[in-house]
Amino acid sequence: MDSLFPARRMRRLRMKPKLRDMVRETRLALDDLILPLFVCPGERVRREVASMPGVYNLSVDQVVEECRKVADLGLPAVLLFGLPEEKDEQASGAWSEQGIVQRALRAVRGALGDRLILIADTCLCEYTSHGHCGVVSASGEIVNDATLELLARTALSQARAGADVIAPSDMMDGRVAALRRALDGEGFQNTPIFSYAVKYASAFYGPFRDAAQSPPAFGDRKSHQMDPANLREAIEEARLDVAEGADLLMVKPAGTNLDVLAALRREFNLPLAAYQVSGEYAMIRAAGLNGWIDEPQAIWESTLAIKRAGADLILTYFAKELALWLQ
Ligand code: PBG
Repeated sequence: MDSLFPARRMRRLRMKPKLRDMVRETRLALDDLILPLFVCPGERVRREVASMPGVYNLSVDQVVEECRKVADLGLPAVLLFGLPEEKDEQASGAWSEQGIVQRALRAVRGALGDRLILIADTCLCEYTSHGHCGVVSASGEIVNDATLELLARTALSQARAGADVIAPSDMMDGRVAALRRALDGEGFQNTPIFSYAVKYASAFYGPFRDAAQSPPAFGDRKSHQMDPANLREAIEEARLDVAEGADLLMVKPAGTNLDVLAALRREFNLPLAAYQVSGEYAMIRAAGLNGWIDEPQAIWESTLAIKRAGADLILTYFAKELALWLQ
């Protein structure tokens, strides 16, 4: 027995707010935060997502205005998703030079120059008629290598449109290598790849599929997204992405995978990010709107925990709220 009580009293450093501030181990900073945005067709469109109160589908002109606010708040970056005018089997809206994200990238760059880092999400599911993340064969299989081709086209068109960072979220095997090769081949050697390295097949993406209108028309994403039961496999996924040339690693969803974040933090030296996804947002917001929890406190606690677990960067729909409090 080595109880030091009463000599040792842990409560001493908790007695005054200032003292608590001084001994706080983890702090959020503005530079840690990335706000995801959903670009939709039309003009002056600002349509609230039903399952994500406070999150909007924004037409290109509105994305520009939103990005201006985001930059004014001191946030460093946004992540762009697109809702195309039309969807087809080849996801042509994902890689068209006139695609919705490509147009948004050019417009924001034109209006804001280098005030924000523009990250493009690279996946096909928002652009395919069947809502899958890749090319689907007659038997219903999501075909890996044919998908890489389309992903490479997508990443290149995004880079040409001015994306600072390419963030593949598709979970096809070999995509980081394929994108690196494609980008290097066109002179984009300095465009980083931000890999959704560890992406679990998760119920917490539900509201996103509402926001991006991208639910799969049949089946699910379990043939490419990971089984939430697996941790060793997560390390293997990340190791492969590092070997293929990833510059930043991401874990997603964040809140249910803090152990995975901590494990990756120990294993790898690359910058590490976590995505507090749509379902995590929706749960906190819904409970807050109902008066069931203290919403600001819950936002703080959930994002601080992600940072404490090992994330350098946090993608969160609460980025603007956090930025206001951090100023
Ligand atoms: C695209 C993609 C998804 C999310 C990010 N990129 C949806 C999915 O995989 O079904 C989810 C983000 C969120 O839930 O906030 N593949």
